[in-house]
Amino acid sequence: MPSPRTDTAPRTDTAPLTQAEHDRLVVADRHVMHTMVRGDDPRRIVVVRAEGCRLWDTKGRRYLDATAGLALSQVGHGRRELGEVAAAQMAKLEYFHTRWGFTNDRAIELADRLVELAPEGLNNVHFTSGGAEGNEIALRLARFYRYRTGQPDRTWILALDKGFHGITYGASSMSGSAEAHTGFGPMLPHVRFLTTPDTVHGTAFGGAGVTDFCLRELRETIEEIGPERITAMIGEPVLGPGGMIVPPDDYWPRVAELLRSYGILLISDEIVTAYGRLGHWFAAERTGVKPDILVTAKGITSGYMPHGAVLVDDAIAEAVADGNGFPVDFSYSGHPTACAVALANLDIIAKENLLGNAVEVGAHLGDGLRELLELPVVGGVRQIGLMVCVELTAEEGTLAPLPHGTTALVDELRDKHGLLVRGMSSGLMMVPPLVLTREEADEAVDALREVLGRMTPDGLLR
Ligand SMILES: Cc1ncc(COP(=O)(O)O)c(C=O)c1O
Repeated sequence: MPSPRTDTAPRTDTAPLTQAEHDRLVVADRHVMHTMVRGDDPRRIVVVRAEGCRLWDTKGRRYLDATAGLALSQVGHGRRELGEVAAAQMAKLEYFHTRWGFTNDRAIELADRLVELAPEGLNNVHFTSGGAEGNEIALRLARFYRYRTGQPDRTWILALDKGFHGITYGASSMSGSAEAHTGFGPMLPHVRFLTTPDTVHGTAFGGAGVTDFCLRELRETIEEIGPERITAMIGEPVLGPGGMIVPPDDYWPRVAELLRSYGILLISDEIVTAYGRLGHWFAAERTGVKPDILVTAKGITSGYMPHGAVLVDDAIAEAVADGNGFPVDFSYSGHPTACAVALANLDIIAKENLLGNAVEVGAHLGDGLRELLELPVVGGVRQIGLMVCVELTAEEGTLAPLPHGTTALVDELRDKHGLLVRGMSSGLMMVPPLVLTREEADEAVDALREVLGRMTPDGLLR
């Protein structure tokens, strides 16, 4: 259990806004370009305050945030001490770049801390401001490394067809879903997609074991393109936005071994899984596989500042530096305030044993959700630490997709129970802050039981 919160004095700003104040904000919201909002839905939830796993909107409604925003609020919302760290750092050195021989004390300390926590051999850190930027850096490292080591034809990237790596062009070129590409082409060339080891959503594996099938496909693809033209493969240890897809235990170790035999690098996208989500600092501890490049963001600051870190193997870092340093970074790489907040955030994760809490409360949440398997519409439950997916089905005993998706369920959970979950095509995902308590887990399970108990096989509600 996390220790009791001591950093938040009682707040007085919980009073709802008046209807007129709320309406003014909603009208002004027309200037904000929103993502994935239904055009016919005029409602807006204007969030004004948050603390722990709770959010409040302008109307004074309270929500249980089982999404941790976008799977990133490890230490929970409303931590005053992180605000104080940011303010103190800004008063001292708010920003300076890390180019041309400049560096700063906070970036140095954070890099040191990450290297201490990371799998051995990843002794080099490239800072970014977010996840997609990190995958861009990984891609550039993977290609530039070949350029610098006399293998300029090694440009191809292998990726998973249900993988997601962000929305910049390089990152989305390596993301498998059609939505990542449709209408945005042409995407980056020299990317080849492989079958995701998804044992849940009806992928045909030709009668073979999943890993055997994927390994054969990987080997054949490498031979077809030619190993001398491939630089790296990218993948998430557990696929997040793809629908919490958990590869079989032997998948990543066998993939890594095969890639190594061809001299192909492994890039691990741990943007969701790092910093405790699965009960480890890095999912690499769970898979037992040390990647050549490990990309992180999100939970590194729990969202208190935009930030990310790419951890890089010594051989790659040495080759790309080659006297002059790796020639690309961002204006905000090594941002001292973001680094200071990240350090304090990592301190909280360690001090409050949030990795342990993710394991313990995650198991408790998983146990509660598995009780829902008795409902005909619940087809499965996947849970690792505090990453959970409840798989829904249109037909008891199968995993038939829901004809109307999960939107009605997500809305009902939010509007009736104040529970925020993430709707996937045929499931509900929960990635709450790692400070979630057993009581909050029970509250989420109760809400799901009530709503899923009223769900018809087509994904609508009675
Ligand atoms: C696995 C994974 N990779 C990359 C990204 C992109 O991160 P960002 O939105 O910080 O660019 C995400 C975002 O959800 C993600 O889930």
